[in-house]
Amino acid sequence: MVNTELLAATGALLLGVIGDPIAHSKSPVMHQAALSALGLPGAYVPMHVKRGRAEGAITAIKALGFRGINVTIPHKVDVIPFLDHLDETALRIGAVNTIVNDHGILTGYNTDGIGYVRSLKEEAVPDLQGKRIMVLGAGGAARGIVYALALEKPDRIVIANRTADKAEALAAEWKDLADIRGISMEELPAYLIETDILINTTSVGMHPLMADTPVAVGLIPEGIVVSDLIYNPLQTKLLTESKQKGCTIHGGLGMFVNQGAYALEYWTGLPAPVAAMRNAVLNDMG
Ligand code: ATR
Repeated sequence: MVNTELLAATGALLLGVIGDPIAHSKSPVMHQAALSALGLPGAYVPMHVKRGRAEGAITAIKALGFRGINVTIPHKVDVIPFLDHLDETALRIGAVNTIVNDHGILTGYNTDGIGYVRSLKEEAVPDLQGKRIMVLGAGGAARGIVYALALEKPDRIVIANRTADKAEALAAEWKDLADIRGISMEELPAYLIETDILINTTSVGMHPLMADTPVAVGLIPEGIVVSDLIYNPLQTKLLTESKQKGCTIHGGLGMFVNQGAYALEYWTGLPAPVAAMRNAVLNDMG
C-alpha cells in the first residue's frame, strides 16, 4: 500500500493512472522504473475508476496532491470538462491521456500520437516527410496517430476502415493539415501498392486473437515499412509475415514507452530514461 498523503506532504512525486480495466496496465511498472532511474522519490499507482466517475477521480487527484496522472479507457474523453486547460494536441484530438497538476490547476495533454511518431522515427523511418502512409482503422487510437503524422508533412495519409464512413469523417477533420483521405477496404488494394508505410491501429492480431491480420499480407508490397500499434504480442502475425516478405517492421512497444516518456517529461521537466522504461516493460512481459 502506498501512503499517498504522506508522499504528497513530503514532497515526493505522486503519480498514477485511472482506467477500467486497470489491473493489467504496464504503466505502473514502467513509471516506477523511471522514477528509480531518475533517483526521484515517489510512487505511481494504478487506480480502478469506473465509467462515469471521472469527476470524482479528478477531485481526488487534486485533494491528494497528485502531480500527474495518466488517463486510459474509458475516461480519455470524459475527463475533459473537469480540466482547466487543454494543450493544442489534446484539444484537436478531443482526448486526454496525461494530466499535469500545477498547484491545483490541471492541464490535459495527449501523448499517444507524438509518442507513436517519436518511436516510428527512432526505430524505423527517421524522416516522414514525403512518405505515402496508410492507416488501418479509424477509432480512438487512429485519431491521435493520424493527427501527429499529419504534422510530419507526409505526401499523403490514406485511412482505410471496415466502416468507411468513419475513415472519411476522420480524414475530413484534418484536411487542413495534410492530404488525408478515407477509403473502404474494397478500395484498399489500389492504394496499398502505392504505400511506403502501413500502420495497423485496429485490435486485429491482439492477444488473445493472434491468428488474424487486419489485411491480407499478400497485398502488402515487398520492402515497405509495416507498423503495428499492438505490443501484446510484441510481434503480431502481421509483422511476422511482413518481415518474411522483406518488409521493415515496427511494433507497438515503442509507442507505449514513448507516450509514457512524454508524460513523465511533462510531470518532471526531466528527460525520460527511455531505455530503463522499455526494459521494465519487457521484463514484466516475461
Ligand atoms: P481504439 O480506441 O483501440 O482505436 P475503437 O475506437 O473501438 O478502439 O476502434 C477500433 C478500430 O478497429 C475501428 O476502426 C474498427 O473498425 P470499425 O470502425 O469498422 O468498427 C477496427 N476494428 C476492430 N475490430 C475489427 C475487425 N475484426 N476487423 C476490422 N476492423 C476492426
